[in-house]
Amino acid sequence: MKLSVCILAAGKGKRMYSALPKVLHRLAGKPLVGHVLDAAAAVTPTAPIVVYGHGGELLPAAFEGREIAWVEQREQLGTGHAVAQALPRIPADTLVVILYGDVPLLSVATLERLIAAAEPSGFSLLTVVLADPTGYGRIVRDAAGEVQRIVEHKDASPAERAIAEINTGIMAVRGDYLHRWLPTLGNDNAQGEYYLTDCVALAVADGIRVAPVAAANEAEVTGVNNRVQLAELERAHQQAQARALMEAGVTLADPARIDVRGRLECGRDCVIDINTVFVGQVKLGNNVVIGPNCVVTDSEIGDGVELLPNSIIDSARVGAGSRIGPFARLRPETELGTDVHIGNFVEVKKSRIEDGSKANHLAYIGDTEIGRNVNVGAGTITCNYDGANKHKTIIEDDVFIGSDTQLVAPVRVGRGSTIGAGTTVTDDVEPDRLVISRVRQKTISGWQRPRKPPKKS
Ligand code: UD1
Ligand code: CA
Repeated sequence: MKLSVCILAAGKGKRMYSALPKVLHRLAGKPLVGHVLDAAAAVTPTAPIVVYGHGGELLPAAFEGREIAWVEQREQLGTGHAVAQALPRIPADTLVVILYGDVPLLSVATLERLIAAAEPSGFSLLTVVLADPTGYGRIVRDAAGEVQRIVEHKDASPAERAIAEINTGIMAVRGDYLHRWLPTLGNDNAQGEYYLTDCVALAVADGIRVAPVAAANEAEVTGVNNRVQLAELERAHQQAQARALMEAGVTLADPARIDVRGRLECGRDCVIDINTVFVGQVKLGNNVVIGPNCVVTDSEIGDGVELLPNSIIDSARVGAGSRIGPFARLRPETELGTDVHIGNFVEVKKSRIEDGSKANHLAYIGDTEIGRNVNVGAGTITCNYDGANKHKTIIEDDVFIGSDTQLVAPVRVGRGSTIGAGTTVTDDVEPDRLVISRVRQKTISGWQRPRKPPKKS
């Protein structure tokens, strides 16, 4: 049967105390509902339906350009009412997977089990057993263990409240069933809401078996209602990722002190020290060593690279054997060849630096092309910006740039040239020249430094 996905995301999220709709709060750098959309995309190419309400157009605006069927639920009258708003978008001949926008960690494997379990009868339900089921809908089974109905906590008798198996809210139901049952739901219950969960009893009355599926763990079906739960889920997610990295052969100095906000791919024998954050798509080669307190975003790091502490790498490519930091900053569109050294307090932006070149201390390299085996002295600045436009600096192979040099772009320094310390390079330099622009030293003898008068006591 064809699949469609309906994500419920209209809840107020009152306990977040936020101007932002709850499902736009981020886990591992991605909006909660973004995780759910990704899980949905993993099981079907069909554009998902998202029922939204609170926060108005903020939600559709956050996913502009993504193929989503947005359905507004103006008043939050319950989960049954929410799905009913989506009915015009739900074809009868599909299996509808109902997900919650505030349950971000549901695994694709569990989703696939839920879908498979719905095949025979057209209805499956994801449940979990909780040590403290307070607040949740309870799964009422008959003597044979068949699911009979769901009773919400507020409507449950003391005996029903003792049931530890709860409704996660996630289910798969045939579209034609939803078309049949949803218009018949009432709201005569403790909360005056239209309960989607009433569909279970309606199915049983129609002779349709509801297949229960057990969640793989509690975290994957836990919803976020406040910022404490958000932080708890974030940690659960980070721990799981750290564990997977270690199981795949990565050494972590402390699995509790690495954050992966995106996807981190590692080669063999990488070693990652504490407090390192990986954002977006990051790829490490073999034998990469990452020191403490680094932030690496959308970058590719080659074999044997060493990132020394406190280095920030954003949208850069670092060639094999290079050594970066401590306290280095590589900004977008930086490309380093092999065995490049970028040292402390060096910032590189939109530049290509070829094999074996070095900028070891205190420099700014922007909009620059540097050839092979170039030495950039301490305090060198490429003056790439004239207040309106950016200009290019080109430094050819085997150039030696003395300390405290300014290169006023656009400018080219020819192969093999040497720039004396303190030079301001304003004109292109032919290959194999020496350029010095500093003022000659004056030495004055017998000069007296001003003195403070002696202190009176
Ligand atoms: C619901 C289930 C309960 C289950 C629990 C799991 C019902 C009646 N109850 O509880 O059995 O144990 O989830 O967390 O379904 N939403 C809307 N529109 C609404 C109401 C809710 O979009 O009018 C969305 C919320 O944004 C949320 C989800 O539906 O993502 C669940 O709503 P919530 O209020 O958290 O759950 P309960 O109804 O308390
Ligand atoms: Ca809830």
